[in-house]
Amino acid sequence: AGILVLNGPNLNLLGVREPGIYGSDTLSDIESRLEAQARAAGMPIDFFQSNAEHALIERIHQAFRDAVDMIIINPGAFTHTSVALRDALLATAVPFIEVHISNVHAREPFRRHSYLSDIAKGVICGLGPVGYELALQAALQMTYRSL
Ligand code: DQA
Repeated sequence: AGILVLNGPNLNLLGVREPGIYGSDTLSDIESRLEAQARAAGMPIDFFQSNAEHALIERIHQAFRDAVDMIIINPGAFTHTSVALRDALLATAVPFIEVHISNVHAREPFRRHSYLSDIAKGVICGLGPVGYELALQAALQMTYRSL
């Protein structure tokens, strides 16, 4: 049960990485705010970041075994490349919300296609790090509604 927040490649470099695009918050700044938001709602929350596709896939399989209610995922560049990540989410059928810090539609054309968006509950992009908090707010509402 609970919510899992997954971050893909290079998101461990938030705060340092292209701050003009991704802002100055670090991933741990973002995770602490999500932790507080989930705690206030009495919802268990877990966090995982990896630069490796296989580790993200294994963590999704684990979420299925743990009966996680909802995944919030920023797949980083795997958004645009990974059939394997799509298949892991399809195979486990754990509902998920896709988050991007930047507006992927306003950047290079290759960022416009996502292997995940059509199977996501919803997609948030371009709102900066607050997108994760908005996704959590939606996940909390959807999760409590379905109890
Ligand atoms: C990103 C957008 C992706 O295109 C990029 O590869 C990232 C981050 C975002 O949060 O805006 O790594 O998912």
